[in-house]
Amino acid sequence: MGKVYVFDHPLIQHKLTYIRKNETGTKEFRELVDEVATLMAFEITRDLPLEDVTIQTPVSESKSQVIAGKKLGIVPILRAGLGMVDGMLSLIPAAKVGHVGLYRDPETLKPVEYYVKLPSDVEEREFIVIDPMLATGGSANEAIESLKKRGVKQVRLMCLVGAPEGVEEVQKAHPDVDIYLAALDEKLNEKGYIVPGLGDAGDRLFGTK
Ligand code: URA
Repeated sequence: MGKVYVFDHPLIQHKLTYIRKNETGTKEFRELVDEVATLMAFEITRDLPLEDVTIQTPVSESKSQVIAGKKLGIVPILRAGLGMVDGMLSLIPAAKVGHVGLYRDPETLKPVEYYVKLPSDVEEREFIVIDPMLATGGSANEAIESLKKRGVKQVRLMCLVGAPEGVEEVQKAHPDVDIYLAALDEKLNEKGYIVPGLGDAGDRLFGTK
């Protein structure tokens, strides 16, 4: 079963508190999500493999380390996932960015993909699917499925806030996928919002409330 990691870095927790607050406006919300995405990118890349290199400093030769050429891909789920892309790219600028667009079928209420664009070398990359909210898990599962159908072998899921219900669904459907969160909240309410959550992440990011 996939593991769940909650990033408890004080800066992430502090900024998340302001992201959650009802009175935080669009500009500040967007800036804070961007900053937290950068901090989460720092945490999620903790286990990237290193390789030894020998370099010359101004003083002497030095045996040092660099990241061992691991290829990464970032895949925001449209539209709210877009709010986390730039923050991540500021730390991992060489990552390629794919996109997955999903809509909810009004009859089945299930997410259906309407747009998928990935880098061509999917089998060589590890992908990080990003979406601020892991609510029911329906969108995350569908996005991960879309990637796997196209040959992606390694996927992680990174969200700001998760509900236990969504975590369980992803763990059930994709036991090979680890989940990275800034917070694991209490529950979903009857309208499918995460409690306490932060409201509708897309609306708050783009000012469409
Ligand atoms: N999507 C959101 O944007 N917010 C929630 O609380 C749940 C799903």
